[in-house]
Amino acid sequence: MKKTLMLLLAVMLMATTVVGCGSDAIYKSGTYEGVGEGYSGKIVVEVEVSDTEIKEVKILEFNDSDFALEPAKQLIEAVIGSNNTEVDVISGATETSNGVLEAIEDALLDARISDAPAKTNNNQEEEELEDLTTDVVVIGAGGAGLTAAIEAKANGADVIVVEKMPLIGGNTKLATGGLNAAESSVQSELDITDSVELFMEDIMTGGGEINDQDLVDILASESAETVDWLIELGVDLSDIGRMGGASADRTHRPTGGDPVGDHLVEILYENATNMGIEVLLNSEVIEVTGDDNGVSGVIAKTAGGEFSIDAKAVVIASGGFGADNEVVASYDESLEGYGTTNHPGATGDALGFTKNLNVDFVDMNEIQTHPTVMPSNNFMITEAVRGNGAILVNREGERFVSELGSRAEVSNAQLEQTGSTSFLVFDQGIRESLGAIDGYYNNGFLVKGETISDLASELDIEASALESTIETYNGYVASENDEDYSRQDMPRSLETGPYYAVEVGPAVHHTMGGVRITTESEVLNTDGKVIPGLYAAGEVTGAIHGNNRLGGNALTDITVFGRIAGVNAAKSSN
Ligand code: FAD
Ligand code: FUM
Repeated sequence: MKKTLMLLLAVMLMATTVVGCGSDAIYKSGTYEGVGEGYSGKIVVEVEVSDTEIKEVKILEFNDSDFALEPAKQLIEAVIGSNNTEVDVISGATETSNGVLEAIEDALLDARISDAPAKTNNNQEEEELEDLTTDVVVIGAGGAGLTAAIEAKANGADVIVVEKMPLIGGNTKLATGGLNAAESSVQSELDITDSVELFMEDIMTGGGEINDQDLVDILASESAETVDWLIELGVDLSDIGRMGGASADRTHRPTGGDPVGDHLVEILYENATNMGIEVLLNSEVIEVTGDDNGVSGVIAKTAGGEFSIDAKAVVIASGGFGADNEVVASYDESLEGYGTTNHPGATGDALGFTKNLNVDFVDMNEIQTHPTVMPSNNFMITEAVRGNGAILVNREGERFVSELGSRAEVSNAQLEQTGSTSFLVFDQGIRESLGAIDGYYNNGFLVKGETISDLASELDIEASALESTIETYNGYVASENDEDYSRQDMPRSLETGPYYAVEVGPAVHHTMGGVRITTESEVLNTDGKVIPGLYAAGEVTGAIHGNNRLGGNALTDITVFGRIAGVNAAKSSN
């Protein structure tokens, strides 16, 4: 059944041609170019104005991700619709939004002839908001959701992905360090010895042995095949390094150690859209319809009202709750007031939209902090920097922990240091080993010194203390024995200037708890029974990572179980 809801939307100005400058003129009519700074570089726009109105904005140069284009366009619509640059930035795409607004403002600087306030356009038109029907509806356009959608479509189902934010990607687009897999084709090409058994042992040890062993078996044993599947789609996973808690080099990432998440999301999205999968943005699921005897679709909310999608199967891929400190603190009060590395949409909505379904949530109080997050802006510095050899020092210039210990161990040790933060220190050799570091440097995040002594003085640390710490550490690298903290992997000594540092401390990073699933990604109710037609994958699920997720294992989780959820949702919708 189709119901039609009416939605009032501000629309683009219907331009009337005005020649010359009338008495109310704000602009010299014409086209003007402006430049702003986006997330990954320059944004150049061309703005066309009449003497009173912003008529058109064209993007001439855009270096941010392809999926940031959609929010940029929405912002431009808002600017044209309101005839004003004082519009809200698009949540989740703040830097792109600011870059676009800066570029438009830059162009208007040349265009403006008066300080008179810009007029607001009040034209409105009615747009239809329709209820929809499909085979499989996927909640969330992050990595798990896009993966599930691709597999469901490849297995014969019609698929709609519903995303509440103005842009796709969720936490996945922020992932940096890489994706873990054992016995992969890439490891084999690079002569790296590893085994699925070793991977499973690392996951269980890292997770405090409280992980669901069956889910861990699937995660580890399907990781290599999933890497090949991703490579087949076009994902570059050719560089391999190591993250904390791993007994082998198994963290796969793009060539040169570039950040993985943005690239992964871009390729998944490209494949999804090429296959004809519809992705609805700005549409927040507020209810999965049905009950624990079977689901029938979802109800979603937009700025203009609600609409329903009837579906034979539903995949929940809505991510975790690390961005909502109230929810975080309700499960672990020691984390009240903490910053977060998460995107703003990680608010644990599954707790609310599954209310009818008696879904079993497990391990909800297992919440992880990431130890190397910049206190000034909550920007996460990837664990891969430590994996590639960096050390942590306190304000006394001393190491205080094994840098590759569990995230809880490193975070807690940091909180005991003077000022409750520390400095991540590395040299030019480590910088050159990991492309992600260039981004930090270009964003001005790093303090630099030509010598260790220069760096120490920039950090207000006693130079002799830092020099002695690094000399001792380099000795441990040479002897392959960290006599102070038993660090397991020390791939590089710190001996090539310039030297770099960044202040870091802990912030909420990953929520290990969530929906309880089977090895087939089926969602279980509190009686341990499968809810027919309901699947889940990714950070929204619980029990896989125990009390501590190892770096690089979330991307394995979302792709391995995203694929399983997609295949099974398609099967159940036939
Ligand atoms: P997400 O990618 O968060 O996607 C969920 C989507 O669902 C979001 O787009 C969200 O807006 C949407 N959504 C939520 N509620 C609703 C609703 N009600 N209606 C509609 N849509 C909704 N892991 C690794 O393995 N390796 C790494 O290198 C790594 N680096 C990381 C770096 C950072 C800064 C962060 C924050 C995490 C990192 N992680 C990493 C963890 C990993 O990125 C996440 O755990 C994983 O990507 C989660 O994927 P997901 O698809 O489950 O959720
Ligand atoms: O530090 C990082 O790159 C984060 C990795 C992870 O959470 O898996």
